[in-house]
Amino acid sequence: MTLQVLSVTSEAVPLVKTGGLADVAGALPGALAPHDIAMTTLLPGYPSVLAKIGKVRVIHTWDALLGTPARLLFATLEGEHPLFVLDAPALYVRDGTPYADPVGHDWADNWRRFAALGRAAADIAGGAVVKRGKPQRFDLVHAHDWQAAMACAYLRYAPFAGQSVPSLVTIHNMAFQGWFGHEIFGQLELPEAAWSIDGVEYHGGVGMLKAGLASADVVTTVSPTYAREILSPVFGMGLQGLIAQRGSAVHGILNGIDTGVWNPSPDPLLPATYSARTLARRKVNKRALEAQFGLDTESGPLFVVITRLTQQKGMDVLPEVLDHLVGNGARLAMLGSGDAAIEHALAQGAARHPGRIGIRIGYDEALSHQMVGGGDAILVPSRFEPCGLTQLYGLAYGCLPVVSRTGGLSDTVIDANPAALAAGCVATGVQFDGVDYAGLSAAITRTAALYRQPKVWQRMQRNAMACDFSWTASGRAYADLYRSTTR
Ligand code: ADP
Ligand code: GLC
Repeated sequence: MTLQVLSVTSEAVPLVKTGGLADVAGALPGALAPHDIAMTTLLPGYPSVLAKIGKVRVIHTWDALLGTPARLLFATLEGEHPLFVLDAPALYVRDGTPYADPVGHDWADNWRRFAALGRAAADIAGGAVVKRGKPQRFDLVHAHDWQAAMACAYLRYAPFAGQSVPSLVTIHNMAFQGWFGHEIFGQLELPEAAWSIDGVEYHGGVGMLKAGLASADVVTTVSPTYAREILSPVFGMGLQGLIAQRGSAVHGILNGIDTGVWNPSPDPLLPATYSARTLARRKVNKRALEAQFGLDTESGPLFVVITRLTQQKGMDVLPEVLDHLVGNGARLAMLGSGDAAIEHALAQGAARHPGRIGIRIGYDEALSHQMVGGGDAILVPSRFEPCGLTQLYGLAYGCLPVVSRTGGLSDTVIDANPAALAAGCVATGVQFDGVDYAGLSAAITRTAALYRQPKVWQRMQRNAMACDFSWTASGRAYADLYRSTTR
């Protein structure tokens, strides 16, 4: 029987993206379709979304959705999968990102913007949308991160017309929990019973991720290792006790990548396409990349970095290792934006090492393809990484990942340690411990030494490119979990 799932998210490619959540939410409907799961995605109507969806139909209206007039628009995602857009101009039509104003400050009414998303999801799942004279039914709600997590609390405490359905919440990043002061509780339109230690209350205020973790039938996160890590205070960031309490309801399912978009052999964004059998063709891409970043052509490895410039990503340490990297005969091309102090430190490093360190501040999807298609190794020195996608792109393109041993990074990269090299070389990259000068500089030295052994390096590239991190296995895992949750 086809299962109807409502996926609730604050971003999804190709409509709006600030990070990996958008890639995952955009790919899930396609990953689940082969398993007889019909997924409808619910997304806020930000300006970029409204501009891209084209022809729409209004399928429901609210006079006051948590106090705001709203409409539900029906469109399709990539012309294929059903998409519900929550059109509430007072909440979502503004300049800036989905979460912050153009200066970077979180919107003061984020609690209302995303509680409304959750309220709408619970209404829809409970049958508020009438299709051909009958309420449209959903079997399960899948909520992503704190911005959608209130859907689970509304389903539990205030279902539409008393109709609830099971729910699943996915933690993409425990660092963002959606905590707000006690004073908003009265405006959430929840019964008093929800204000409890096993409801929405968290440290005297409202914890939206916490509310979802406590209310959902099932909790997932995006790698098996992160699912274990969040049981500890450092990674659980306060919610470790609740994760422990949820016990076997917590699952770690790795993200996949969209191999229709991330595949070097047909990739139209690359100067030269290639496969594991035509690795030599990567040289064309490497030369083009050097030219793009103003780098000299040299024989040493070309490292690339594609990231948000934040502490999570270990980017405060990157400026410290630039001299070491250059001293090892390596070069670096970095694409990213974020923390102003990190941007400044990287710019200083680039000025110290012209022709060796090239940086591009900004966001550039096409360039990110060219970087994994031409770079030798991609550095991902994250302090924590629930899954991480750029190391998976690196693997698919034979741009070997150099990663800290955490979360999804440890689950997806096989370190070139002596055992892996001895076992006929099964390595696909380099893992290291310690996101600090000592850890990262040692990893760079080790990578440069491997690069100087072309046979070993090429073997690792082929191993990496042979890994299957498509959505095939993870799509099946989500489908199985949906079915066992709705039984
Ligand atoms: P996170 O979501 O924590 O930022 P992920 O690795 O899961 O980390 O996903 C990041 C996504 O954003 C990837 O698709 C990556 O390629 C992309 N990305 C990050 N920074 C940039 C950038 N400056 N330009 C282009 N793409 C970027
Ligand atoms: C978050 C995490 C990242 C993960 C992404 C998609 O942004 O930081 O590790 O890959 O979500 O799940």
